[in-house]
Amino acid sequence: MIFEQINNGGDRNFGYLVGDEETGMAAAVDPSYNPAYYIDRAEKLKLTLKYIICTHSHHDHVNGNDHIIEQLGIEVVMYQDAEYFFDIEVKDGDIFKLGTLDLRIIHTPGHCQDGMCILIENKLITGDTLFVGKVGGTDLEEGARLEYESLQQLMQLDENLEVYPGHDFGAQPSSTIGYEKRNNPFILQPTLEDFVHLKANWVAYKAEHGIE
Ligand SMILES: [Fe+2]
Repeated sequence: MIFEQINNGGDRNFGYLVGDEETGMAAAVDPSYNPAYYIDRAEKLKLTLKYIICTHSHHDHVNGNDHIIEQLGIEVVMYQDAEYFFDIEVKDGDIFKLGTLDLRIIHTPGHCQDGMCILIENKLITGDTLFVGKVGGTDLEEGARLEYESLQQLMQLDENLEVYPGHDFGAQPSSTIGYEKRNNPFILQPTLEDFVHLKANWVAYKAEHGIE
C-alpha cells in the first residue's frame, strides 16, 4: 500500500493519498485546500485517482472536491446522508474496495453526524473525531455524548493501529491507539460527565498543562 499524509494548509488540515500498488488505484482522502497536489502526486506515483473520500462534510474537508471532479470527473465517497454532494454512500461496517485494499468504514458521529473513520490495514484515518492528544469539537450535550461513544468504540481497536487525524493539532502528526489510550486527556476521562467537564474547561486545562 502507498499511504501518504499530506499537509493541506488551511487550519493545519491533513489529507491522505491512499494507493493500491497491485492495481494502481488510488483515493484522495480529504484533499481540501490542496487538491492539485493529489492529482500531481498520484501521477508521479503512477497511480490512477479513482475516488475522493471525505471523512465528514465540514467545509475544510470537502472544499477541494470540485477541483478534482472538474479535472478528473471521479466519484466522491461519503457517509450516508452526508450534508454535501457525493456519489457513493458508505455506512458503518462497510468494506469499501480500493483495488485490492479493504477500507473499513467506522461511523463516528459526534463532531459531525456524518463523521466516519477509515481503517486500512494498520492505519486508521480519524478525521475530526480523534486528534493526537485531543478530540474533535462538539457541543456539550448530544454531540459530546455521541463523540464519547464513538471514541470508546475506537479504543476497542488494536492498540498498535496507527492514528492519522484530520488536523495537525497534536504534539506529533500521528500516533497509535495505544498512545491515545495512555496520553489523550479526553480518552483518560473515566465517565461521560468527566469527558464533558474537560471539554467545558479545556482552555484552562490546556494552560495548566502547557498544551498548545
Ligand atoms: Fe470538522
